[in-house]
Amino acid sequence: MIASVTLDYTARQPVWHSLLDPGTPPGHTMARMELYDVMRTAFAAREFTDDPVTDETLGRIFENARFAPSGGNRQGGHVIVVREQATKDAISECTKLAARRYSAQQLAGETPWNTWTPTKLTPEAIAATPVPPGLSEPVRRAPVVIVVCVDLRVVASVDHLLPRVGIASGASIYPLAWNILLAARNEGLGGTLTTMPIAEEPRMREILGLPECMAVCAVMPVGKPVRQLTKLKRRAVSEFVHRERFDGSPW
Ligand SMILES: Cc1cc2nc3c(=O)[nH]c(=O)nc-3n(C[C@H](O)[C@H](O)[C@H](O)COP(=O)(O)O)c2cc1C
Repeated sequence: MIASVTLDYTARQPVWHSLLDPGTPPGHTMARMELYDVMRTAFAAREFTDDPVTDETLGRIFENARFAPSGGNRQGGHVIVVREQATKDAISECTKLAARRYSAQQLAGETPWNTWTPTKLTPEAIAATPVPPGLSEPVRRAPVVIVVCVDLRVVASVDHLLPRVGIASGASIYPLAWNILLAARNEGLGGTLTTMPIAEEPRMREILGLPECMAVCAVMPVGKPVRQLTKLKRRAVSEFVHRERFDGSPW
């Protein structure tokens, strides 16, 4: 039942489409933005206000995000909600190994962590590079950190025999991670899908009590963003959509 309706298609801030009454059945949000507004404005938020992120809000986020697809509908995803500061600090430490190399490669003009063009940097050069706080601090400072894992016992990895880095396994878990961030945006929150702590997966397993079969897929600091970006820098459709073949005409 709609209690009130607010429509403002000129607003740069969220367009709240409708407000449903408290009797709204599970799975329906209390308020919702236009889907395309959510998709176009879900940026990588790394700075957060002190506003709390309640269990109630997280519950709505997970209740809606759970409809993400997975290979064979095997649903191997698990989500860990971290609020303890000591755990956030420990996870933040886990970002540093990957962040150091990321930064060193970026400074050297390389594409960080790329397997197609491996790094030419020496381990010494990487070790001498400071960790940019922007890569390790958001997890420490966010009101809540959402860790997304997948159970490797049920993931279909149809490309694992190919002579290249595996991509297909991620398709069974990243739709869930992204659904969580889209739902967070819908709730007026923001976050960043980060992967750097994965480089320290054994340590992450200890910190979070994960069994061996559980792979860490995303670590997502979430909170109310200090500021909301509304114009994201992305390629135009004609730059990446091709008709019929890769060398076909652009869309
Ligand atoms: C697979 C993936 C891994 C990422 N890993 C990190 C990360 O480890 N740390 C981080 O700060 N941001 C990470 N990001 C966030 C990206 O940097 C961000 O999505 C991108 O720069 C676009 O930012 P924008 O939405 O604010 O324009 C990651 C994003 C994706 C999709």
